[in-house]
Amino acid sequence: MAKRSTFATRFGAIATVAGSAIGLGNVWRFPYEMGSNGGGSYFLVYVLSILLIGIPVMLSELAIGYSTRKSANKALRELSPGTRWHYFSLGGFLSAMLTLAFYSVVAGWIMAYFGAYLLEGVGQDSTAYFQHMVSTPLTAVGFTMLVLLLNHIVLRLGVRQGVERVNGVLMPLLFVLMIIFAVRSLFLPAAREGLTFMFRPSLSAFSPSMVLNAMGQAFFTLSLGGFVLETYASYFRPETSLVRTSLLVAIMDTAVALLSGVFLFPALFTYGGEVAAGPPFIFEVLPRVFASMPGGEIIAPVFFFLLLSAALTSTISMSEVQVSVVEEQRHWSRRRATIWVTLVALVLGSLCALSFSVLSSCTLWGRNIFGVMEYAVSNLLMPFMGLFICWFVGWHLQPDFLSDIIFPSATRQKYPRLTGRVAAVMRFLLRYIAPLCILAVFMSL
Ligand code: PHE
Repeated sequence: MAKRSTFATRFGAIATVAGSAIGLGNVWRFPYEMGSNGGGSYFLVYVLSILLIGIPVMLSELAIGYSTRKSANKALRELSPGTRWHYFSLGGFLSAMLTLAFYSVVAGWIMAYFGAYLLEGVGQDSTAYFQHMVSTPLTAVGFTMLVLLLNHIVLRLGVRQGVERVNGVLMPLLFVLMIIFAVRSLFLPAAREGLTFMFRPSLSAFSPSMVLNAMGQAFFTLSLGGFVLETYASYFRPETSLVRTSLLVAIMDTAVALLSGVFLFPALFTYGGEVAAGPPFIFEVLPRVFASMPGGEIIAPVFFFLLLSAALTSTISMSEVQVSVVEEQRHWSRRRATIWVTLVALVLGSLCALSFSVLSSCTLWGRNIFGVMEYAVSNLLMPFMGLFICWFVGWHLQPDFLSDIIFPSATRQKYPRLTGRVAAVMRFLLRYIAPLCILAVFMSL
């Protein structure tokens, strides 16, 4: 068997999966999606999606990678030899590739803000600042390229030295800072309005597209449907518990999203700004918050730096899927595969970055290139891949595949009732609830 690098420690595995999950999806996308989709109702559907669809799909992706220890395409071939199921790995590959493109643009904005705060601050009018930044082609493309370059460097260092080390140190720091910010927001004058917006569902906000948006966000935030988790699980050590990893990651990921909501919405209602501002949301709200915070000019660059690292641990995971597939399929060296992935990302990322300036008239469904990619990946491709995973693991493989992988026989013997129940619930969710929910949402559009 070919030697496959593994994570050095169990903590490393959890930290790395969490590093992929926790990123701009939590701090940038979640609040703006929640703002545009009516707050509390969106939150409710989002949490239900994590529980009923996200966790079973997550466990299945992990189980596929962990049991085969191969990258997506080979893993599917091994589990279902002689069939065409492995073609679905293309969907995962595509979703990782497109996500990397638009994600690096947003990470570039974060980097630009980090730089701005180090040098001179963002100024009074954050909306104008943001607009100026995204509509200046050179700035937008330049920062996207810088992010992809950084990403390339970490990738080249390899799994253990690069990915794992960066993750383990910076993620806990971001978490602590977010807790401090959220607690501080609770004492702002409009804290109550902000929290009411976040947590009070209203019937009128429910619509098929809102439900799709919330479900898409659940996929996006847990890095599902792109074979990212499948790839990472192929590097796990045998003793790593998939159940513990997925539960911990889902909890931490939801906690960070919640913290950013609790931090941002009270601030938005206190300092003013548009709830449904879309992608610019945090870039407009955060400068207002930092301007009103004692020591804000010092905290701001630290915050943007940590957010940039959180973004990088996610871009690394998207690239890793592509690199591992290209490496194994084409028998290329890691170096060559990494260069190829970075070049493709540079081209697609530049197109996204330019869609706010030179290419702003290229639109589809009323969205620019950036918007189309973001929507198509998180709301269409990822849930579609989720459907595939439910079908593959829930119906196509042996009925006991998932429980056999997630519970080693020693655990099953030690806790027969508990493991039996969890396995039955997971199987039920995976076979019926998750696919039916995804299908229902797709069909009601
Ligand atoms: N889950 C990441 C986030 O929330 C984004 C991501 C999507 C990462 C898909 C990998 C694959 O920021």
